[in-house]
Amino acid sequence: MPSEMVAVASSHAAVVAAMTERCLEEAWSDTAVGNILATPGAFGFIALVANMPTAFILCRAAGGECEVLALGTVPCERRNGMARRLVERAVREANARDARRMVLEVAEGNEAARRLYANCGFSQVGRRRGYYRRPTGPSIDALVLSREWGIEHKVQ
Ligand SMILES: CC(C)(COP(=O)(O)OP(=O)(O)OC[C@H]1O[C@@H](n2cnc3c(N)ncnc32)[C@H](O)[C@@H]1OP(=O)(O)O)[C@@H](O)C(=O)NCCC(=O)NCCS
Repeated sequence: MPSEMVAVASSHAAVVAAMTERCLEEAWSDTAVGNILATPGAFGFIALVANMPTAFILCRAAGGECEVLALGTVPCERRNGMARRLVERAVREANARDARRMVLEVAEGNEAARRLYANCGFSQVGRRRGYYRRPTGPSIDALVLSREWGIEHKVQ
């Protein structure tokens, strides 16, 4: 199936919000996505398969560091390498914006995301205890993951 990647523009807020509903445990509103896209350093990409949005990444680069704010692939397109390609594309964009480190938080029990990030060269640099609060059941720790690259290093 032909696929392509497009940079997220402010006009994509509703499309990204709809994808958060399909991909994440908690959906983000159009307004929330629009507000993020309006902040300095924010950028993102949408992966399209046969012109249908199937995966997305939202990031923010500032002060030499880039944070992954959200990443998701719609369930029917998972394990097709979409998220890996989006992460690598985001690292290249972060590098172009003078970031030398990418960081993110992932729920300790999110095995799929942890494996994805490990495959993409991230390692654990911290833990936030009880970071994810749930209406029922115990809170879940977030692991802080990081991938660094030097100025001389060519990001693949
Ligand atoms: C995590 C998520 C983004 C992965 O998206 P994806 O497009 O399926 O990931 P990819 O196909 O690029 O997978 C790349 C690698 O990650 C790992 N991986 C991805 N999903 C996995 C799973 N369910 N189980 C184990 N490993 C997995 C594998 O190593 C995989 O490589 P392989 O298929 O060659 O073995 C997707 O499962 C998702 O949207 N989950 C819900 C939202 C979420 O957790 N976002 C991340 C929050 S930090």
